[in-house]
Order: sequence, then structure tokens, then C-alpha cells
Amino acid sequence: MADTAAQSLDDYTFEYKGFNFPKDEITPECIDSLEDFEIRDSDVFIVTYPKSGTVWTQQILTLIYAEEDAAEFKTTYERAPWLEFQEKGQDYNARPSPRLFASHLPYYLVPKALRNKKAKVIYIVRNPKDAMVSYFHFHNIMVKMEKTKDFSSFMDKYVNGKVMCSSWFDHIKGWYSHSDQFEMLFMTYEEMIKDLRAAVLKICTFLGKRLEDSAVDKIVKQATFKNMKNDPRANYEFLPEDVMHKDRGRFLRKGTIGDWKNTFTVAQSEFFDKVFQQKMKDLPLKFIWDIN
Ligand code: A3P
Repeated sequence: MADTAAQSLDDYTFEYKGFNFPKDEITPECIDSLEDFEIRDSDVFIVTYPKSGTVWTQQILTLIYAEEDAAEFKTTYERAPWLEFQEKGQDYNARPSPRLFASHLPYYLVPKALRNKKAKVIYIVRNPKDAMVSYFHFHNIMVKMEKTKDFSSFMDKYVNGKVMCSSWFDHIKGWYSHSDQFEMLFMTYEEMIKDLRAAVLKICTFLGKRLEDSAVDKIVKQATFKNMKNDPRANYEFLPEDVMHKDRGRFLRKGTIGDWKNTFTVAQSEFFDKVFQQKMKDLPLKFIWDIN
């Protein structure tokens, strides 16, 4: 298949209100219209910076709400569609409650009712070193995304926010420092890895859902990396060849913590740590991962 990869960020994204959006998926008018998007109390939003565990959380929420779904278990993508990419002209206002959404938006571009604590937000953050490695591979498998010649060049773009969805640092800082405006659960990918059952229960408590132990067991089983990797509803297997190079890898790649150590050199790691400390120094937040 002909390689139609972008040569630069501008080829496939546009910057609007300080954020890099994918060109084919959204327009500035649509972004502006989200401000007044009608929110329901029962809506749940999964918000992440890319490669932080979005599809994993979509899967968990889809399973938590499975019994309330009249329709059969859909793909995670259909059950928790992207707020900002109004999928295939769907009318989100016509969707039955409880509605689930995913979003990569920065805190200041989400619907204003959400910023007034209407509905719930689950924000997932992941060690940026692992998220960066995951994003590097993601660029390689997504047909249209810019292919960077090496990891070092990619890191340069990443730390400067010259990637789709802009800066990891701004995203996390923005959401975390404005968390009092939202009805929000702030979770890490790492805690989900370390104890998935505890993470599922934490999400259930936040959502006010009481499930039988056996139902929780079932969710945990269906949300393991192994099972999701084999589940075409969760692993984006339905994406066509002109969107994803399936011969180059899969959406669910490794699903581990600390994989960055297989990619970063010692010098790259030290460089990133310095950038991290400098950019995050004002944030009163201790992360559970060992950044060193
Ligand atoms: P890796 O590329 O490191 O494997 P997102 O959905 O935000 O794009 O994040 C994708 C990352 O989450 C990928 O990371 C993917 O493998 C990982 N992931 C998805 N489901 C997972 C699961 N059940 N357990 C662990 N990691 C998972």
C-alpha cells in the first residue's frame, strides 16, 4: 500500500485555541460548539492524554454499564465515542442514558456544564515516558501520522508539544490544577496495572455503582490486556488498512509499565527527567511511578 504518511505535523493537524487537532476529524466550528454541548447528570467522560489507557478505561466502563445497555455489547469505540470527533455524524443528543464519552480535550475546551460539575470525569494519567514510547509506536502504525526518523527526534517533538494533542505537561497540569471545577476521579495507568480489581472497584464507587463480586470478577477478566488484545471490539481490529498498518503492529501493543527502559538511552532519560522536573515543579502532585 502506498505510504501516505504526513511529512510534518501541519500536514495532518491544525492548531486551534492552543491545541493540535487532527485535520480530518474536527473543525474549529465544531470545537466551539462543544462549549454548549448539552450534558446530562448521568454522563461519564473518560479524559486522557493519548496513550494513557483510554481504550482500557472505555472497556472497563462499557463492561460496568453492560447490563443497562439495551443493545448488544458494541465496540468500546461505539459505546464510549469521542466527544470531539462526533463519530460518523452520530447525533449524540439522541443517545440513551447513561452516555459514555472519551476525550483528549484540554480542560478549557470541554463543555461548560462539565466544568460546573455536571456529570462525571475519569481522568487517567500515565508515566509520560511510557506514554511517549507508546505514542512513538502509534505514529508508526497509523497511516496518516508523521513518521519520525528516530526516537530522539520524536522526543524532541513530544516535550515541545509538537504532536497531535499538544503537550503532555500542559494536559496533565491543566486538568489537575482545575480538578476542583469538575466531578473528577484522577487515576493512574500504573495503579490499574498494579491492581486491576481495586481500580475497577474505585471506578464503581466513584460512579455509585454497586456490583456483585461475580460481576466485578467478570469485568476484571474481560479487561485484562490478554483478553482485550484478543477482543476485536476492544483492539481496533475494525479499522481499515488505509487507517492502520496492521502489519506494523497492533493498538494494544505491550500494556506494561517501565517499557520505556527498553527505548530510552540513559542520556535521553536524564534529559527527560530534567524537563519533567522543570515543567512540573509547581504542581503539588506526587506520581506513583518512579520517574528515574
Ligand atoms: P502500549 O503501547 O504501551 O502497549 P490509549 O488507549 O490511551 O491510546 O492507550 C493505549 C495504551 O494502553 C497502549 O500501551 C495499550 O497497550 C495500553 N492498554 C490498553 N488496554 C490495556 C490493558 N487491558 N492493560 C494494559 N494496558 C492496556
